[in-house]
Amino acid sequence: MEKSGNPATPASIAFQAESPTILDRWLAIWKRIRRLPRQLAGMNPFDGDCRPSRVPLFKWGRSAWPFPHPWNYHQPIEILEAYFYGADTESGPGRHNRYLEVPGFAPILVTRDPGIIRAIASETGDLAGQFDRDSMPSTGIARATGKDTLLFSNGAFWKLQRKLAASPFGKTALFQDEVFREFAATLRNAVIHRLQVLHDYLADTGQTVARVQLEPEIKPIMLELLTSNFLGAKITYEELRQRYVPAMESVIAHIVRDTVLNRLDVSFVKLPAFTSTMARLKADYDWFDELTNRVLTARREQAGLWKLFKSDAPDDDLRSNLKVFLAGALEATTSFATWAISHLARNQAAQEAVCQEVRDIHDYTPDKLQSAKYLSAVLEETLRLTPALYFLPRRASVDTWVETADGRRMFIPDGTHVLLDVWHANRHEDHWGVNTSGYPANEFVPERWARIAAQGRASKDVLHFGFGHGPRVCPGKHLGQLEVALVVGAFVQLFKFKAVHQENPARAGVSTKPADGTLVELELR
Ligand code: HEM
Repeated sequence: MEKSGNPATPASIAFQAESPTILDRWLAIWKRIRRLPRQLAGMNPFDGDCRPSRVPLFKWGRSAWPFPHPWNYHQPIEILEAYFYGADTESGPGRHNRYLEVPGFAPILVTRDPGIIRAIASETGDLAGQFDRDSMPSTGIARATGKDTLLFSNGAFWKLQRKLAASPFGKTALFQDEVFREFAATLRNAVIHRLQVLHDYLADTGQTVARVQLEPEIKPIMLELLTSNFLGAKITYEELRQRYVPAMESVIAHIVRDTVLNRLDVSFVKLPAFTSTMARLKADYDWFDELTNRVLTARREQAGLWKLFKSDAPDDDLRSNLKVFLAGALEATTSFATWAISHLARNQAAQEAVCQEVRDIHDYTPDKLQSAKYLSAVLEETLRLTPALYFLPRRASVDTWVETADGRRMFIPDGTHVLLDVWHANRHEDHWGVNTSGYPANEFVPERWARIAAQGRASKDVLHFGFGHGPRVCPGKHLGQLEVALVVGAFVQLFKFKAVHQENPARAGVSTKPADGTLVELELR
């Protein structure tokens, strides 16, 4: 499908998001009518040797219905699971590919087949006929941050923003030796300084062991690394911890509710505050605005790594993207770091192996980071077993055939909502189990990665999609990896820690996190 927009337009004009034309709206209605006879006849709209099997709308025994509604939207992992209810007894392609279809609506395809996930992610982009990112699961984010963002947009408009907004996060910008050294040193100082407070608390009180929930400690550190260290804003840690993190938590929780419950597409910010709860939430939105403005002030002063950001786009055109970066990065990096610590807290041998490796590292140069092989394996394994983003949403923009690397094919009809179910793909025995990686798929075993490497399997064939894949791969990957490696490395250097509960269930919203808030018993090293 051809998409409108002109990549050569000057930045300030091109930053106006495309809205659907009357023709687009009529076309959508026509497509609905056209598929109705087939839907009423109950015919499978997919085809090929990976043809998905149909999931009934209602079925006894499932832990959730296969679509979000006001009573189950806080259980998104169970909603995905509902698609695969009974699938493990199937041997055909329906074992990992399922669809739901309600007459009058576009089909929903859920796949936990890594081959299909990779094929669809590779074919997502601005070219004619490629998949879009499905904007339906991010409508709440778009209402909160604005629609003109890298996350929400598609087609030429997305491509242009990707070029303008993603460059400073790229490996080449960040990993230039001088930039990297300076940045890594600032980050490490910040991390050590914050963790030292916990360390001193233990030392001062004379306690040998303290029970601490780490998520509230890690969140402000992650936000500080991005706003103050990376983006150069002059914001104190106390302001971040006491004002901005709570405000962002409240806005992010509202975004999740708003995505499911707000059927009228009315932005909350534009409504008057009818109740005291609404007034408080509005105040939180104002704090989020204020934080964004302070980061934009740093841009005018060319502080932090803004100097790598070569763009003449006015501040107002960057505001929405910046909000997505702030909220998205806070969620994703906190998720990644808390999961890594949470797994190590349940695996003392792995914790000691990381400690041995990082004990003498005091400056994280690109080389040293590369040579910390066990820490890298811990981080890979964390993203595999407990990815921050548990599914990747896509939408077929035309009737499409996709093909896996091993030659299997699937026909996906125009308009299909596709959920690339990374969470369940990554923990399925068929893909990551004893036969393929040497260890059970649902266990945290960093040694798996050395085993895979010893089998001579190329990393491009062993994908966990923790940072996505293809043209829409995470632009903050290198920054995020660096931040999380520093936080986890420094944490292990300072403390021994043990989980309070052995079970490690997830809670999921915008991202996944350990359900216990990463509750550990800490001991000084
Ligand atoms: C370290 C933890 C992080 C993880 C695990 C993570 C994960 C991901 C994943 C899986 C995607 C792909 C989504 C898709 O394909 O639909 C993505 C996209 C994105 N990430 Fe990250 N991310 C992290 C950190 C960051 C940071 C630090 C930033 C920015 C400061 C960032 C900004 C973005 C943006 C803007 C997109 C959308 C890109 C596009 O659509 O072109 N992420 N991230």
